[in-house]
Amino acid sequence: MNFEELYQELILDHSKRPRNFGPLPDATVTVKGDNPSCGDEVELSAKLTPDTVETLKFTGHGCAICMASASLMTIKIKGKSRQEAAAMAKAFRHMLVTPEETAVPESFGDLEVFSAVRRFPQRVKCATLAWRALEQALSTVPAAPVSTEEND
Ligand code: FES
Repeated sequence: MNFEELYQELILDHSKRPRNFGPLPDATVTVKGDNPSCGDEVELSAKLTPDTVETLKFTGHGCAICMASASLMTIKIKGKSRQEAAAMAKAFRHMLVTPEETAVPESFGDLEVFSAVRRFPQRVKCATLAWRALEQALSTVPAAPVSTEEND
């Protein structure tokens, strides 16, 4: 399967059958993200501990790129440390504004398909909608304080 086919298949599959879609009753934080250029909205709910993103789910509506990105994001981020989640969100948003020929980090896995969105700058907001909501959620609930034990 070439890259174009993989892109089509993953985006279609995850937009038609988004994973981790629905409410999360025991969420510790819920944030709304929107794309002002089209009015689409995603509501992201996450169960955060001081150190980890235990689980996360989303609801809302958006184009295929938006829904697929939110779906793949929940799979990628679930169970990650908050630090890793924040770093991945930053790296993902950064990747989308790099030139097309820039290599994508291996740690991206399936998220690599979104590198094709770099050809369509007007769709970058679609791909990053859920990720911006994740960053907002992470900043809303305080993370565990960084230990200063070694310095005491
Ligand atoms: Fe609305 Fe993509 S067109 S999020």
